[in-house]
Amino acid sequence: MKNNMVKKFISISMIAVLLLSVFAGCSSPSQSAAEKVEVETQRPIMVQGPMPIEAEKFAQRLENVKEETSGTFVFYIGTLDDYPVIVAKTGKGMENTAAATAVAIERYNPIAIINQGTSGGHDPDLNVFDIVLGERTTNLGSLKTADKDENQGIDPTVWIPMDLMASEGSAGEDPNAEKIRYYEGDKDLLAAANAVIDTYTEGKIVQGTIGSADVWNNEVDRIKWFHTKFGTSVEEMEGAAAAQIAGAYDIAFLGIRVLSNNKTNGGKYNPETATANQEYVYEVVKKYISTMQGE
Ligand code: 5AD
Repeated sequence: MKNNMVKKFISISMIAVLLLSVFAGCSSPSQSAAEKVEVETQRPIMVQGPMPIEAEKFAQRLENVKEETSGTFVFYIGTLDDYPVIVAKTGKGMENTAAATAVAIERYNPIAIINQGTSGGHDPDLNVFDIVLGERTTNLGSLKTADKDENQGIDPTVWIPMDLMASEGSAGEDPNAEKIRYYEGDKDLLAAANAVIDTYTEGKIVQGTIGSADVWNNEVDRIKWFHTKFGTSVEEMEGAAAAQIAGAYDIAFLGIRVLSNNKTNGGKYNPETATANQEYVYEVVKKYISTMQGE
């Protein structure tokens, strides 16, 4: 009698477990199989930020986030409006950025890359909290010095821009390499950025030229030299590296930089600008997604 009751209990429990799993199987996936496949095959949008204050705010706003690393690079893989978006914390400087960009392209095959963060003003008309959309981005460290012998000194004002992408031959000997290389901002990303300008209330937003190098310039005359010769609106340490690698793989690219300081007009450094920029870039990404989906 006791044995029979135990047997009965076990079989009732098994039926209950079976029923539960059938119900769970029917009700849990909110997406259809076709929708799931689509999300899995959609190429993600990648948003890069060098420092924690320039990446983590955006990463916190993603949904369904999973974190992956490669070396010192951190990738926050999530979704925004159900579209795959990856925030990359690259670390500062050209080398970190170039490597993190190449690793991310090989791993995640992004459809577009936005490199964003803080910058220093080269244009005295731009103030701290203003934002520059990189109509073009250029490497301010690609330079050839004048030809001088021992004891003839150094003279940075006569250094010549050098285009490392001009040919596969020696850039030092090639007269065709004596020019500035500009990486163009993608027109669809620029259109999305321009379409949401009104969402940003902490400063103005302009299109301009972003200059990059592993250098923080504090000499106003040197800054003026770059502004005149290269047409730079701002300087930072990453954009041109990301643009060059995105270009090598034919991936849409845009630099978006907020001024956190401007030596040319006394604009004092303010790290709060990093958050403001991420909030604006979030709106840009939302707009880009809705445009891609034909809305
Ligand atoms: N010069 C160079 N880089 C700057 N950055 C902010 N302002 C400047 C500036 N005036 C950014 C760089 C780098 C970090 C030092 O801050 O992109 O990530």
